[in-house]
Amino acid sequence: MEAIAALHNRVSQSALVAPAPAGAILDNIKRAALRAADHAMLRPWRFLVIEGEGRHCLGELFVRAREATEGGLSDRERERTLGRPLRAPLLIAAIAACRTNTKVPEIEQLLSAGAAMQNMLNAAYAEGVGAMWRTGDFAYDPVVKAGLGVGDAEHIVGFLYLGTVGEPRPPQMPPDPAQFFVSWGNDR
Ligand SMILES: Cc1cc2nc3c(=O)[nH]c(=O)nc-3n(C[C@H](O)[C@H](O)[C@H](O)COP(=O)(O)O)c2cc1C
Repeated sequence: MEAIAALHNRVSQSALVAPAPAGAILDNIKRAALRAADHAMLRPWRFLVIEGEGRHCLGELFVRAREATEGGLSDRERERTLGRPLRAPLLIAAIAACRTNTKVPEIEQLLSAGAAMQNMLNAAYAEGVGAMWRTGDFAYDPVVKAGLGVGDAEHIVGFLYLGTVGEPRPPQMPPDPAQFFVSWGNDR
């Protein structure tokens, strides 16, 4: 797909089924992440690819996280939570690996990790792969962070759910640029 068409039309897809992207298509999605704007070339990101049994392990981690904050879960809530990572055949957890740098504050490193995520969303759309960026409470939960090996100076910017589009969302009406872009400084 032409780049501009992908950028203008990308939508998230929540109903994702097997097969997961693989091979050259998955590689294209990963490479797009690595072209995120990045002040001082810090490469302040890393990614965990979670599929197969890994999704079940993540579901168990989500249950442990909820139990730590809420106490015991009902069977229904436990099943629901275990099923969260099963909403797509492949997940990529994007982690902002922030480091101390005199020129590049943490917020810029977080933004760069977010840009990596958006690049993957755009690449997935261009490749015809369904994708959705999710955080929920889990991305910020200390039990989840510890279980995924996320360090003290790191942040989970989200979980990218990837798969084949099951039930496609209808195309979205693009917002009018005039509502968001205004001319500044030329009216003196
Ligand atoms: C940082 C971030 C976290 C998000 N977390 C969630 C989430 O946990 N659950 C959810 O339903 N949507 C979440 N979203 C929103 C969806 O990814 C998506 O952008 C939204 O449904 C709008 O669809 P669109 O991307 O097609 O415009 C998140 C978006 C961002 C940027």
